[in-house]
Amino acid sequence: MTRLPILHYPDTRLTTVAKPVAMVDERIKTLVAQMLMTMYEEEGVGLAATQVDVHEQVVVIDISDGGDQPLVLINPQLLWASDERQQSKEGCLSVPQIYDSVSRAAQVKVRALDLNGLPRDIEADGLLAACIQHEMDHLAGKVFIEYLSPLKRNRYKIKAAKLQRVGV
Ligand code: NI
Repeated sequence: MTRLPILHYPDTRLTTVAKPVAMVDERIKTLVAQMLMTMYEEEGVGLAATQVDVHEQVVVIDISDGGDQPLVLINPQLLWASDERQQSKEGCLSVPQIYDSVSRAAQVKVRALDLNGLPRDIEADGLLAACIQHEMDHLAGKVFIEYLSPLKRNRYKIKAAKLQRVGV
Protein backbone atom coordinates (compact mmCIF):
# COMPACT_ATOMS: atom_id res chain seq x y z
CA MET A 1 0.00 0.00 0.00
CA THR A 2 1.40 3.34 -1.02
CA ARG A 3 1.38 6.41 1.15
CA LEU A 4 0.49 9.35 -1.07
CA PRO A 5 2.42 12.64 -1.25
CA ILE A 6 0.39 15.61 0.00
CA LEU A 7 0.27 18.94 -1.85
CA HIS A 8 1.20 21.92 0.27
CA TYR A 9 -0.37 25.39 0.17
CA PRO A 10 0.08 27.58 -1.90
CA ASP A 11 0.41 24.87 -4.58
CA THR A 12 -2.09 25.97 -7.24
CA ARG A 13 -3.26 22.37 -7.77
CA LEU A 14 -5.08 22.77 -4.44
CA THR A 15 -7.42 25.23 -6.17
CA THR A 16 -8.64 22.61 -8.67
CA VAL A 17 -12.37 21.86 -8.46
CA ALA A 18 -12.89 18.10 -8.11
CA LYS A 19 -15.17 16.18 -10.48
CA PRO A 20 -17.79 13.70 -9.27
CA VAL A 21 -16.73 10.05 -9.14
CA ALA A 22 -18.44 8.26 -12.03
CA MET A 23 -18.33 4.81 -10.45
CA VAL A 24 -17.15 3.45 -7.11
CA ASP A 25 -14.89 0.78 -8.57
CA GLU A 26 -11.60 -0.89 -7.59
CA ARG A 27 -9.64 2.21 -8.57
CA ILE A 28 -11.64 4.34 -6.14
CA LYS A 29 -11.42 1.69 -3.40
CA THR A 30 -7.64 1.62 -3.78
CA LEU A 31 -7.52 5.43 -3.69
CA VAL A 32 -9.61 5.44 -0.47
CA ALA A 33 -7.36 2.84 1.17
CA GLN A 34 -4.28 4.87 0.26
CA MET A 35 -5.86 8.10 1.46
CA LEU A 36 -6.81 6.53 4.80
CA MET A 37 -3.31 5.19 5.28
CA THR A 38 -1.83 8.57 4.43
CA MET A 39 -4.21 10.40 6.79
CA TYR A 40 -3.43 8.05 9.69
CA GLU A 41 0.32 8.21 9.13
CA GLU A 42 0.22 11.99 9.01
CA GLU A 43 -2.04 12.06 12.10
CA GLY A 44 -4.73 14.07 10.35
CA VAL A 45 -8.48 13.79 11.01
CA GLY A 46 -9.47 14.30 7.39
CA LEU A 47 -8.10 14.20 3.87
CA ALA A 48 -9.61 15.17 0.51
CA ALA A 49 -8.46 13.62 -2.76
CA THR A 50 -7.56 17.13 -3.96
CA GLN A 51 -4.74 17.14 -1.40
CA VAL A 52 -3.14 14.10 -3.01
CA ASP A 53 -3.54 15.60 -6.49
CA VAL A 54 -6.54 13.46 -7.48
CA HIS A 55 -9.32 15.77 -8.57
CA GLU A 56 -12.33 13.61 -7.90
CA GLN A 57 -14.87 14.01 -5.08
CA VAL A 58 -13.48 11.66 -2.44
CA VAL A 59 -13.04 12.49 1.25
CA VAL A 60 -11.87 10.41 4.21
CA ILE A 61 -12.40 11.45 7.83
CA ASP A 62 -11.72 9.88 11.20
CA ILE A 63 -12.26 11.98 14.30
CA SER A 64 -12.23 9.04 16.74
CA ASP A 65 -9.59 8.90 19.47
CA GLY A 66 -8.53 5.41 18.46
CA GLY A 67 -8.35 6.19 14.75
CA ASP A 68 -10.58 3.20 14.04
CA GLN A 69 -13.79 4.80 12.74
CA PRO A 70 -13.10 5.84 9.17
CA LEU A 71 -15.81 7.73 7.34
CA VAL A 72 -15.68 7.73 3.54
CA LEU A 73 -17.62 10.36 1.60
CA ILE A 74 -17.81 10.02 -2.16
CA ASN A 75 -19.55 12.79 -4.14
CA PRO A 76 -20.67 14.54 -0.94
CA GLN A 77 -23.50 17.07 -1.31
CA LEU A 78 -24.54 19.54 1.31
CA LEU A 79 -28.27 19.07 1.98
CA TRP A 80 -28.59 21.55 4.83
CA ALA A 81 -26.46 23.79 7.01
CA SER A 82 -27.62 25.45 10.23
CA ASP A 83 -27.72 29.21 10.57
CA GLU A 84 -26.07 28.67 13.93
CA ARG A 85 -22.29 29.01 13.66
CA GLN A 86 -19.42 27.56 15.63
CA GLN A 87 -15.79 28.56 15.89
CA SER A 88 -13.18 25.85 15.97
CA LYS A 89 -9.46 25.71 15.66
CA GLU A 90 -8.49 24.07 12.37
CA GLY A 91 -5.34 22.72 10.87
CA CYS A 92 -4.68 21.06 7.53
CA LEU A 93 -2.15 18.53 6.25
CA SER A 94 -1.68 20.85 3.26
CA VAL A 95 -0.86 23.79 5.54
CA PRO A 96 1.66 22.32 8.00
CA GLN A 97 2.14 23.84 11.44
CA ILE A 98 -0.59 26.42 11.00
CA TYR A 99 -3.71 26.37 13.18
CA ASP A 100 -6.39 29.00 13.41
CA SER A 101 -9.98 29.55 14.34
CA VAL A 102 -12.60 29.28 11.59
CA SER A 103 -16.33 30.03 11.78
CA ARG A 104 -18.60 27.47 10.11
CA ALA A 105 -22.14 26.13 10.30
CA ALA A 106 -22.60 24.34 13.62
CA GLN A 107 -24.65 21.52 12.07
CA VAL A 108 -24.80 20.07 8.58
CA LYS A 109 -26.57 17.32 6.70
CA VAL A 110 -24.77 15.76 3.77
CA ARG A 111 -25.53 13.00 1.31
CA ALA A 112 -22.64 10.94 -0.03
CA LEU A 113 -21.91 7.55 -1.50
CA ASP A 114 -20.14 5.03 0.70
CA LEU A 115 -17.49 2.55 -0.42
CA ASN A 116 -20.23 0.25 -1.74
CA GLY A 117 -21.51 3.06 -3.94
CA LEU A 118 -24.66 3.43 -1.81
CA PRO A 119 -26.05 6.83 -0.82
CA ARG A 120 -25.98 7.68 2.87
CA ASP A 121 -27.24 10.74 4.71
CA ILE A 122 -25.04 11.99 7.52
CA GLU A 123 -26.00 14.50 10.18
CA ALA A 124 -23.08 16.08 11.95
CA ASP A 125 -22.30 18.67 14.57
CA GLY A 126 -19.22 19.75 16.51
CA LEU A 127 -15.85 18.61 15.22
CA LEU A 128 -17.35 16.30 12.60
CA ALA A 129 -19.42 19.13 11.10
CA ALA A 130 -16.35 21.37 10.91
CA CYS A 131 -14.29 18.56 9.43
CA ILE A 132 -16.86 17.70 6.73
CA GLN A 133 -17.09 21.36 5.68
CA HIS A 134 -13.29 21.71 5.68
CA GLU A 135 -12.86 18.65 3.44
CA MET A 136 -15.72 19.60 1.11
CA ASP A 137 -14.03 22.97 0.70
CA HIS A 138 -10.90 21.17 -0.53
CA LEU A 139 -13.02 19.49 -3.23
CA ALA A 140 -14.17 22.98 -4.27
CA GLY A 141 -10.55 24.15 -4.44
CA LYS A 142 -10.60 26.06 -1.18
CA VAL A 143 -8.12 25.90 1.73
CA PHE A 144 -9.20 26.94 5.27
CA ILE A 145 -6.79 29.82 5.58
CA GLU A 146 -8.80 31.65 2.91
CA TYR A 147 -11.33 32.32 5.70
CA LEU A 148 -8.77 34.30 7.68
CA SER A 149 -8.03 37.99 7.36
CA PRO A 150 -5.76 39.02 4.46
CA LEU A 151 -3.14 40.07 7.00
CA LYS A 152 -3.04 36.64 8.68
CA ARG A 153 -3.19 34.90 5.33
CA ASN A 154 -0.17 36.79 4.08
CA ARG A 155 1.77 36.02 7.21
CA TYR A 156 0.95 32.35 6.74
CA LYS A 157 1.97 32.43 3.09
CA ILE A 158 5.40 33.65 4.14
CA LYS A 159 5.63 31.00 6.85
CA ALA A 160 4.51 28.29 4.41
CA ALA A 161 7.13 29.36 1.88
CA LYS A 162 9.84 29.19 4.56
CA LEU A 163 8.71 25.73 5.65
CA GLN A 164 8.80 24.57 2.06
CA ARG A 165 12.37 25.80 1.66
CA VAL A 166 13.52 23.78 4.65
CA GLY A 167 11.64 20.80 3.25
CA VAL A 168 8.86 20.32 5.83
NI1 NI B 1 -7.29 20.35 4.93
